[in-house]
Amino acid sequence: MINVPGHPELRRIVVLNPKGGSGKSTLATSLAGYLVATGKTAALLDFDPQGSTIRWVRRRPEGRPAVYGISASEQPAGVTRSFHLRIPHEYRHVVIDTPAAVPSSQLASFTSGAHAILVPVLPSQIDIDAASRLVADLLLIAKLSRRMGRLGIVANRLRDNTVAFRRLMSFLDRLSIPVVATLRDSQNYVHAAEEGLSIHELPASRVRKDLVSWLPLTRWLESRLETPLTARDRLLPVKAPAQGRVVNLDDHRRPRA
Ligand SMILES: Nc1ncnc2c1ncn2[C@@H]1O[C@H](COP(=O)(O)OP(=O)(O)OP(=O)(O)O)[C@@H](O)[C@H]1O
Ligand SMILES: [Mg+2]
Repeated sequence: MINVPGHPELRRIVVLNPKGGSGKSTLATSLAGYLVATGKTAALLDFDPQGSTIRWVRRRPEGRPAVYGISASEQPAGVTRSFHLRIPHEYRHVVIDTPAAVPSSQLASFTSGAHAILVPVLPSQIDIDAASRLVADLLLIAKLSRRMGRLGIVANRLRDNTVAFRRLMSFLDRLSIPVVATLRDSQNYVHAAEEGLSIHELPASRVRKDLVSWLPLTRWLESRLETPLTARDRLLPVKAPAQGRVVNLDDHRRPRA
């Protein structure tokens, strides 16, 4: 079981979709860049052994606000796992990048205690099918509540008015889960990532369309970050859903004095 560590003031933003290549790491680094560009403190926790987000942290140019990076798939010698994963108290937000192929039994360990859970979805039938299974797993296995509003979909790499675009939007409409942004397919994301930056840190004249497409996402995110978690949001189902037993993960996570 993955234990995502934290401190009481930490806000967790999880980017999740077991379907490979949907844009998780790009979204995670963009979110971390957005947070620091707006004066917040942010850490990035990379659970993917591919390490693309941790490499992005290392590529950040000097003079840019720091993002505190942790590679959760590594375990340096001589320190405990919880020491390696701890997020210093001065960092109030952590963006968690998850790998492809997370088994459904592990979803709850990522979503429990998260203020925002973002699922990027690409406009293809394979991705739509995978997203539909993921949403079902999140509701039934990870016990996420639609009503509590922590889950948001990001329609990613869209090209207007293609059949795939219309199919994706109509599928997302039926899910009753908010589509918090529709991001276009743009080399700006690729170039920003190569430079260790996010689109919010590129010259506005270069990324104007993308910044506009991010407005609903950042509005949704800011409101999520302000919304206190309920006891249910912190629950971690520990048995098969039918048995319904739950524990409060924070009981195990509370930092020692
Ligand atoms: N909005 C976008 N416009 C253009 N390219 C994008 C966009 N989002 C992601 N990409 C590109 O799509 C590819 C896959 O993105 P990314 O690595 O973020 O996906 P992932 O879900 O993290 O993949 P994995 O499951 O392998 O971890 C990358 O080459 C990335 O640059
Ligand atoms: Mg990735």
